[in-house]
Amino acid sequence: MQYLRISRRGFLSSAAAALVGPLWADSEVSDAPLGVPMRQEPLNFPFEALEPFMKASMLRQHFEEHHARYVSDLRNTLDAEGMTVGNVVSLMPGMDQVVQPQRSDSRMPLGQLVSQGRSFQPPQTLSQSSVQMIRSAGGGHINHTAFWRFLCPAGAGPTGPQSAVARAIQEDFGSVKSFRHVFKEAAMQHTEPGWAWLVHRQDGCLVVTTTSNEDNPMMKSHIPWHESGRPILALDLWEHSYYEQYQDDREQYIDAWWKVVNWDFVSRAYTIVRGKA
Ligand SMILES: [Fe+2]
Repeated sequence: MQYLRISRRGFLSSAAAALVGPLWADSEVSDAPLGVPMRQEPLNFPFEALEPFMKASMLRQHFEEHHARYVSDLRNTLDAEGMTVGNVVSLMPGMDQVVQPQRSDSRMPLGQLVSQGRSFQPPQTLSQSSVQMIRSAGGGHINHTAFWRFLCPAGAGPTGPQSAVARAIQEDFGSVKSFRHVFKEAAMQHTEPGWAWLVHRQDGCLVVTTTSNEDNPMMKSHIPWHESGRPILALDLWEHSYYEQYQDDREQYIDAWWKVVNWDFVSRAYTIVRGKA
């Protein structure tokens, strides 16, 4: 189930914001801030550092098995298509329109092709199975990369949003308390495997939304415009992210997760998506 909280500013300007442009990160730089390279970044903390809110064994399995599998699946898919991708985020907005890399035949002069009894092959879009794998494994890699970036040990930073992002949250949700309530409700009400997000939309509004499976708000062709944008906070709602410690008690998991949110990185992400960095 999807849940959307349109902010007050979003409600007022939503009619004028039906087009969502380039999302989250530019495509050309693999290690750009908020870009996602074709590998797992090392965590900024040891697995034990989020105890007691997140068990080390649970984090380790999440990182070394679940996340790693997405990276491996994506790499296999891209290898099979002959593609090299620096920033995986660049695949998200228009994955259905991605074309296969030109094969050597298509670079050959037409006369040479004809003389060899071959014909020119125009560029082809990727197979549906590859697109689906980019959606699930590519989404999974990006989503988990975001999830780790937005975590830090309790006490290592501020306990809530700061400065510009705090002001924006206040403006769009009424208060930080109200935002936390909206975010938690969205995460609680989402019944499928998926994710909860705080999204900076193209029109500048902050919205809370959820996505199913490994979809994310940057998948322009799969996400309604009013839920599309660049995430500045991500929460994994798959059972694998909390079952070992919290079993079915998602509420307890969410309450614990708030204790280890990296609000410094939320501020940094907000600055970047607003183009101020
Ligand atoms: Fe996960």
